[in-house]
Amino acid sequence: MSSLLLLAGIAIANALTSVQNFNVTQYLGVWYQVADDGWVQDTFQRQGYCVQATYGVLADGNLSVFNQERYGSPTGPVKNISGYAYVPNPAEPAQLKVDLYGAPVENANYWIIAVGPVVDDKYQWAVISEPGMTYMWVLTRNVVEYRVLYERKVYNLVKSLGFTGALNSYQPTSWDGCEPYSTTA
Ligand SMILES: *[C@@H]1O[C@H](CO)[C@@H](O)[C@H](O)[C@H]1NC(C)=O
Ligand SMILES: *[C@@H]1O[C@H](CO)[C@@H](O)[C@H](O)[C@H]1NC(C)=O
Ligand SMILES: *[C@@H]1O[C@H](CO)[C@@H](O)[C@H](O)[C@H]1NC(C)=O
Repeated sequence: MSSLLLLAGIAIANALTSVQNFNVTQYLGVWYQVADDGWVQDTFQRQGYCVQATYGVLADGNLSVFNQERYGSPTGPVKNISGYAYVPNPAEPAQLKVDLYGAPVENANYWIIAVGPVVDDKYQWAVISEPGMTYMWVLTRNVVEYRVLYERKVYNLVKSLGFTGALNSYQPTSWDGCEPYSTTA
């Protein structure tokens, strides 16, 4: 009995949580992906460079999602995918589900597990994962500022949350030589 309680306690202590008091308005707009993990690199972003995301609001209140990347190199051809995100439980506003058109997985978990300071009504960085802590990535508004001001702190935070495995530890993703995109939506 006592060992079962102990195990339960450990499970609760290790459970991933999402951002409380999340303000989705401050999450909208353009983001640059500055870190991810081996799982992401081996699956849906294989050969992806310069990954950029843009979130907006749809007429029904859900979020629009538009992602772009360069394929094969920082100047490779542009690939994009779009879709939408929604909040199934209003009590957990940072636990989203995402449907990307044409993607193999529907209703994928998209949990915003940490966010950085708000400047000009926008979070400056965000860490996204899911309850099983397989995929993980970090978005920012400004790549250069992120490296200088925030990266060490975010790296330590992600590690302290338990992203320390071969496939889910923090991997910086370079923006060197990225050819800019001609559109954001
Ligand atoms: C958002 O998308 C979900 C899932 O498709 C849908 O059930 C819901 O009606 C949409 N609108 C709102 C406001 O949640
Ligand atoms: C997304 O990619 C498709 C297919 O290459 C292209 O036709 C479309 O214009 C792109 N959308 C945007 C907004 O760049
Ligand atoms: C959410 O953020 C927007 C933009 O900064 C702000 O105008 C609004 O008051 C915030 N909402 C809440 C509930 O704090």
